[in-house]
Amino acid sequence: MTKAAKTIRQIAGKEPITAALVLGSGLSAIGEGLADCITIPYAELKGFPGGGVSGHGRDLLIGTMGGKRIAVLTGREHYYEHGNAAAMRPALETMAELGAQTLLLTNSAGSVDERLRPGDLMMISDHINYAGMNPLIGEATDRRFTNMVDCYAPELRAKAMDIAERRGLHLGEGIYLWYSGPSFETVAEIQMAIRLGAQAVGMSTAPEVILARFLGMKVWACSSITNMGAGLSSENISHEHTKTMAVAGADKLKQLIPALVEEL
Ligand code: HPA
Repeated sequence: MTKAAKTIRQIAGKEPITAALVLGSGLSAIGEGLADCITIPYAELKGFPGGGVSGHGRDLLIGTMGGKRIAVLTGREHYYEHGNAAAMRPALETMAELGAQTLLLTNSAGSVDERLRPGDLMMISDHINYAGMNPLIGEATDRRFTNMVDCYAPELRAKAMDIAERRGLHLGEGIYLWYSGPSFETVAEIQMAIRLGAQAVGMSTAPEVILARFLGMKVWACSSITNMGAGLSSENISHEHTKTMAVAGADKLKQLIPALVEEL
């Protein structure tokens, strides 16, 4: 068992967790939905994200959501911070060791599809690893040859769509293209993403999905659309804008995710 898993069990108790939830830029409010919440700073957990990016938390929360015991990672480490695609591996391994069979991921993303507007949610149906980095490079076992078909669990997507329809929440669905960042895309790169068949672009999530599938976890992921991709609208794309615009998506995710966790 990892040192971090031992620390978490000492602080929060040994009862297993059902799922882990990772919060993206400006989406910290989703963690407020956790009851009986125990907060553990990442600094106390070996291998968990260090430095951090503004708009992201630096705590692990353990508590109850949708009647289930879950862990919430209030911030992630991105590839663009240190050039390490496997940066989230220790944290995700710890989640698996604590019993998480499902990983729920959120992020902020730019839309490259006119039908998905800022404030909308886009559930991820598949991804394109355009950054070209893979967190399993260096893994020595044959498990590195991880199958990525249906890596965004079809049954969880169907459940989420059903919940959204029942609650009158508009939930789009589409393909997420991972650009490394941290600079935003050029206008030409956004045009390329459109031609490659993506509906949204962002700087995270894909490596975590690869790691989660490697670890045997089911995955569900959703983007909060904060802006149209470069050149598709007159808005000024910036990290400040992302954090401000994430609020609308966070409000919807606050309704959707607990209902989904209830059905896990
Ligand atoms: N591009 C990449 N990542 C993002 C964007 C974007 O336009 N918006 C929010 N995260």
